Amino acid sequence: MEYTTLGKTGLKVSVAGLGCGGPSRLGMRSQTGAEEHAVRMVKQALDLGVNFLDTAQNYETEEIVGKAIAGLPRDRVVISTKKTLPTPDQTNPEAEIVTGLEQSLKLLGTDYIDVYHLHGVEPKHYQFAQDRLIVPMRRLKEQGKIRFIGVTEGFVFDTAHTMLADSLKKNLWDVVMVGFSLLNPSARKSIFPLAMQRGVGVLDMFAVRRALSQPKRLQEMCAELIEKGVIGKDELDVNDPLGFLLKETDAVTLPEAAYRFCRHERGVDVVLTGTGNPDHLKENVRSILKPPLPKAALQKLESLFGGMDSLTGS
Ligand SMILES: NC(=O)c1ccc[n+]([C@@H]2O[C@H](COP(=O)([O-])OP(=O)(O)OC[C@H]3O[C@@H](n4cnc5c(N)ncnc54)[C@H](OP(=O)(O)O)[C@@H]3O)[C@@H](O)[C@H]2O)c1
Repeated sequence: MEYTTLGKTGLKVSVAGLGCGGPSRLGMRSQTGAEEHAVRMVKQALDLGVNFLDTAQNYETEEIVGKAIAGLPRDRVVISTKKTLPTPDQTNPEAEIVTGLEQSLKLLGTDYIDVYHLHGVEPKHYQFAQDRLIVPMRRLKEQGKIRFIGVTEGFVFDTAHTMLADSLKKNLWDVVMVGFSLLNPSARKSIFPLAMQRGVGVLDMFAVRRALSQPKRLQEMCAELIEKGVIGKDELDVNDPLGFLLKETDAVTLPEAAYRFCRHERGVDVVLTGTGNPDHLKENVRSILKPPLPKAALQKLESLFGGMDSLTGS
């Protein structure tokens, strides 16, 4: 495994992080009685050298992470978890942050969280989050229950990073989580330069998702882009839109190419991989540790998707 420093937090983190949410939630979504399987997935990641584990209140995988790390020295892992945003109409949203944190600590079996985020903040709720929720988060930080605070975007409805761009205007956050992939590299312009300048740690989500792991989904998505005139008919083969990545580079699979693309982006600290499949996990960690894709392939991707800020790849 390779390790890096997560911005100004100074945390030493593996460049591959385990995403315990997403479509797979460590296999919890598809398998019945999957809890033991999910615990094994987390342990497998740790055996592969991953030390960054990302979960959330609403993934229902905090307890799984807690079981997998029980008995390990606490500083062996960097735990990132998230609080679902209390709605602005609540009378005491500050108290909800405290209650949520206490619940996460209990489920994770720990007395502190390394990075505690507000989860999937919509642009329209950002001001509320900044005005009301940072205060209790900072108090918890002073109490030693949180080491660093972060904010994650709701990428599915904020594909152009409006909220995160807003959040970086002031130096309030230690870490951000952003959607970035070869299908939507827009964070390269709107997020990474400022995050690097401010020393904000950057976690990458949506590197692969469905479009880059399911050929049919990719075909449908590209057919739609051609129909809308976003991409010219002659620019790619609609039956095998990203075939050139496998023909013209040493990447063996599209998920491999997709994770490598993200891993070598300047400004990305940790690439999260979300899976319920042990073989995929092994493969993905290996991919994240491979060298960058060749320049010619990157240029081709840039000409096809470089200007996209509306795709999620879901
Ligand atoms: N707003 C937020 O805060 C937010 C939102 C979304 C995600 N996240 C975090 O980011 C993490 C990463 O996102 P993600 O889980 O969507 O991850 P991802 O790594 O982009 O994509 C995961 C999807 O790709 C498939 N996949 C992974 N490796 C594969 C391989 N080698 N071959 C074929 N298919 C493969 C998985 O299915 P299999 O299970 O079959 O492998 C799953 O459907 C999440 O787990 C979560 O921790 C945060």
